[in-house]
Amino acid sequence: MSDWTDIIDDVSAHVTLLKELGVRTVELPPGFFAAWDKAGAQPRPPTVPAPMPPPHAPPKAVAPVAVQPLPPMSAQELAPEARREALDKIAERVKVCTGCPLHAAGRTNVVPGQGNAESPDVMFIGEAPGEEEDRQGLAFVGAAGQFLTKMIAAMGYTREQVFIANICKCRPPRNRTPDAAEMQNCLPFLREQISVIRPKAIVLLGSTAIKGILNNQTGVTRMQGVWTVYEGIPVMPTYHPSYVIRFENAGDAVGMRKVKLEVWNALKLVLARLGRPVPQTGKKSE
Ligand code: URA
Repeated sequence: MSDWTDIIDDVSAHVTLLKELGVRTVELPPGFFAAWDKAGAQPRPPTVPAPMPPPHAPPKAVAPVAVQPLPPMSAQELAPEARREALDKIAERVKVCTGCPLHAAGRTNVVPGQGNAESPDVMFIGEAPGEEEDRQGLAFVGAAGQFLTKMIAAMGYTREQVFIANICKCRPPRNRTPDAAEMQNCLPFLREQISVIRPKAIVLLGSTAIKGILNNQTGVTRMQGVWTVYEGIPVMPTYHPSYVIRFENAGDAVGMRKVKLEVWNALKLVLARLGRPVPQTGKKSE
């Protein structure tokens, strides 16, 4: 290993340790950038972040979905019937959506999402349907869904008491991650669903859900376990169930325990925010 790679490894280990200790920023000494420039290092990073693309901008390559205006936030007061009807109407439009290439990528069923639409305590948002979800037309009913069910049970809920949905409503081929255009085309449906359902808290499962709802590029490792907000609704990002399962499948018991604990801690923060006790039997989704 060269001197340089040793240094890079050391810096990386140190930054990882800082992160684990909860440090989120580092202070640079005065003159740092002058020294950097003098050393002939790569162009310094911009001190002003590059402008983010405007939120919800439709991608150029794909025709945008026809979107209904968002129902007003007073949807909180919508009668149960009206909520159901509004969600059914969204699902009807999802069913005939041809707004992105996924509609022609072999979908069997669209997967609008399902569960309690009457301001449930929690709405879980994942990435996109997998094979089993595509077959049944229901969100999180495959292997990842089984783990999600355990997470929900550990919190003291049933699947019927929460709402479960995805960023994309159609299955991407071979379960690949949906691309930016596919996400942007599908997101209006989810946003409408959220404004009808008005959950008391949202749990984002994995990077795609974070990117989609929060429109930011920060990875799940940094966001997980940290409260944020969407349209006035408290949002807790955490790892995707598939990520946890991957450790299990790789036989990495230590990694699995660590990541499960992180997920469980995030879920406990949600319970605390909702004023709900941690169920006695609520273990870390073993
Ligand atoms: N993964 C997801 O993100 N959503 C599902 O519905 C199933 C697997």
